[in-house]
Amino acid sequence: MLEPLQWDNGKVCFLDQTKLPGEEIYRETDDYRVIAEGIRTLQIRGAPLIGISAAYGICLGAREYITIPETSFALKMHEIDAILRATRPTAVNLFWALNIMKQVWQKGLKEGCPPREISLRLDEESDALTKREYNVNYNISRRGAALLDNGDTVLTHCNAGSLACGGWGTALGIIHWAALKEKKRIQVIADETRPLLQGSRLTAFELVHNDIPVKVICDNMAGYCMSQGMVSKVIVGADRVTVRGDVANKIGTYTVAVLASYHHIPFYVAVPLSSIDFRLEEGEDIPIEERAAQEVLHFNGKSIAAPGAGALNPAFDVTPRTMVTALITERGIIPPPFEDTLKHLK
Ligand code: MRU
Repeated sequence: MLEPLQWDNGKVCFLDQTKLPGEEIYRETDDYRVIAEGIRTLQIRGAPLIGISAAYGICLGAREYITIPETSFALKMHEIDAILRATRPTAVNLFWALNIMKQVWQKGLKEGCPPREISLRLDEESDALTKREYNVNYNISRRGAALLDNGDTVLTHCNAGSLACGGWGTALGIIHWAALKEKKRIQVIADETRPLLQGSRLTAFELVHNDIPVKVICDNMAGYCMSQGMVSKVIVGADRVTVRGDVANKIGTYTVAVLASYHHIPFYVAVPLSSIDFRLEEGEDIPIEERAAQEVLHFNGKSIAAPGAGALNPAFDVTPRTMVTALITERGIIPPPFEDTLKHLK
């Protein structure tokens, strides 16, 4: 299993995912600003890993200021929290993790704890949060594998594997569990996932690493593959799911869902409860990150569009709940309608 991020006594060591698959470069830091920049630039990416790294970012920030007076420490913690919060808007895990950490440092301040004590509590909390998330991946993978049959060809979009989550991953964890633990014959079709190629660079990398057969397709080939009977199931991850079951995931997921629905192919979403936004009902209320036009207009550092052309670059889209066959959570597989079950799981 690939380890995209580790905490080692005051330092975070993370794999720079922008360099994969060509180079496996690990960066070590004790600076929360490097973590924030890493999230913003997608060196650290995938909803669950964004949450985990932000939690450790808070630990690094607190350590930097343990010797200052409590009142200034409180101000600094607000500043660090705000910097990490502003990195990416769509994956709710970022805010979920920062809220958990905020409760810890605010409680510590209320109790009059010295910054050094608060810092220790934050270290403990982030370790516990990480362990829980890894366990969640394990259970999603284990439970979701029951949906896969011997001989299935699964199409997936973007990367929802170990690289995106640590541990088993979610959508890709299910595929790995079915193939590696249950010895089912599973093949994967990985959408390349333009513009940043998480499918061809990262998903294919993970699958090849584990000897699971994978074919990469350009995103516009998914319809053809489905029309030719080449896809038996679709499984994707999620960045934020509303309490009614609308799913924000990597741009292009909605297109895949529409195609799957037209071709009567099951469309599953693997989602930890940390990616459910219990405050939102409708997908249209999910903030969609708009990234730089450069990512679309350039490829490998070279311009690939007519000079003068602009570009749209929404990083995510929303798949309506009506197109989702089931949500696969750590607590079980949820068929529609999702709302009542999700509310019970909160
Ligand atoms: O922009 P990214 O690479 O962070 O987007 C990642 C995705 O869209 C994943 O599918 C999602 O985070 C689920 S990961 C379990």
